[in-house]
Amino acid sequence: MEHIKNYIDKNKERFINELIDLLKIPSVSADSAYSQDVLNTAEKVKFFLEKAGCDQVEICETPGYPIVYGEKIFDSSLPTVLVYGHYDVQPADPIELWDSPPFEPVIKTTLIHPEGAIFARGACDDKGQMFMHVKALELMMQTNTLPCNVKFMIEGEEEVGSASLAWFVERNQEKLKNDVILISDTGMISNTQPSITTGLRGLSYVEVEVTGPNRDLHSGLYGGAVANPINILSKMIAQLHDENNHITIPGFYDKVEELSREERDEMGKRPFSLDDYKNALDIEDIYGEAGYTTNERNSIRPTLDVNGIWGGYTGEGAKTVIASKAFAKISMRLVPNQDWEEITELFKNYFESIAPKSVKVKVTPHHGGQGYVTPIDSIGYQAASKAYSDSFGVTPIPVRSGGSIPIVALFEKELKSKTIMMGFGLDSDAIHSPNEHFGVFNYLKGIETIPLFYKYFTELSK
Ligand code: BES
Ligand code: MN
Ligand code: MN
Repeated sequence: MEHIKNYIDKNKERFINELIDLLKIPSVSADSAYSQDVLNTAEKVKFFLEKAGCDQVEICETPGYPIVYGEKIFDSSLPTVLVYGHYDVQPADPIELWDSPPFEPVIKTTLIHPEGAIFARGACDDKGQMFMHVKALELMMQTNTLPCNVKFMIEGEEEVGSASLAWFVERNQEKLKNDVILISDTGMISNTQPSITTGLRGLSYVEVEVTGPNRDLHSGLYGGAVANPINILSKMIAQLHDENNHITIPGFYDKVEELSREERDEMGKRPFSLDDYKNALDIEDIYGEAGYTTNERNSIRPTLDVNGIWGGYTGEGAKTVIASKAFAKISMRLVPNQDWEEITELFKNYFESIAPKSVKVKVTPHHGGQGYVTPIDSIGYQAASKAYSDSFGVTPIPVRSGGSIPIVALFEKELKSKTIMMGFGLDSDAIHSPNEHFGVFNYLKGIETIPLFYKYFTELSK
């Protein structure tokens, strides 16, 4: 595939600079202070899609942030690939932990990225990975090698639950008709061992509020005599796991799919070094559910984690106080077959049931979504596997990821097609963390691999 390599070689500086342009806009969907930036990013994506050769590029209004849609249809008898990605990013904070400002992209080398990596919020998740598809389309248009039809659907609310996209998909089934959905919003094992994501976990995200006395109290005058909501909340949270780190919510595991020994052994063959894992995180030991390996714990098993907890006095110095309220945000990562709404309900019932009479408890569901597994005997998977084999010279391994892209299960339900997740990020790229980055090698490899997917998918569809 010489034309692919030549085109990338000639244009790589520009590819990088265009991505840097996109990364400069702080499209933080969670924080309304950035709403104009989110809208500006949508415009910029539209501009780049048009420039790449998409027809009918539109900014589709929704109840929330818009969806950028574009297509290149030249023969309805050929297959259609629907590309999904997101142009919104996570908040950058804690900002003081960044070595360079999150929206002023810089290229630096790292041990894992000797060829350099672009440091910016959204570099990997998902502007960089989404933009590989825009550049791959440009490449195929400029070299006259687009072998099939393509549709782009890029949203601006992935990091906050994709509510508007669900609304859009339900109303546009005909427009979005496709033969396969292609997403780059996941990762791979390493730059020498590519992998294809075959599973995503589901999610239930809730907020809990525990109220004790009707006002903050002097912790000397009242301490010991009334329930302290922070003490109680801590105790309740501790009760959510048993001594084997199993989740204690009744019914929580009822629908969890138990994989066969063979399947688990097959998964266990992926290269993994526990020492490297511990060293990378600077931990003495790992932790998790009894009876499962680290890779199983973060892929095929459900979890429950506190994401934030607050209440009382957290300022400088000491204040002797019993707070009236305590709060926590809790996420449960789910596996296929667990229904997120049902799990949310089970959580709510159980959490309320373990509260002592001395406090009031409120559980507020935030958002959620179902897990997803994609088969490896589909044409789409085979095409992706051949594409990686060509560009990396190594056969990719199927891997179930621990992360979630809740909209993928909805795609299957509404659009009746399978999703192929060709991710090019690495776990060490620090998505959602300070100093997020995306390897230049990974970015360019993505642009190289995507056209090969189109080629093989079209050939295998015949
Ligand atoms: N791209 C990530 C999900 C991801 C990352 C999946 C790496 C697999 C590997 C996505 O943007 C994300 O952050 N999803 C959220 C869920 C969403 C509802 C906020 C997540 O997984 O926490
Ligand atoms: Mn993402
Ligand atoms: Mn994300």
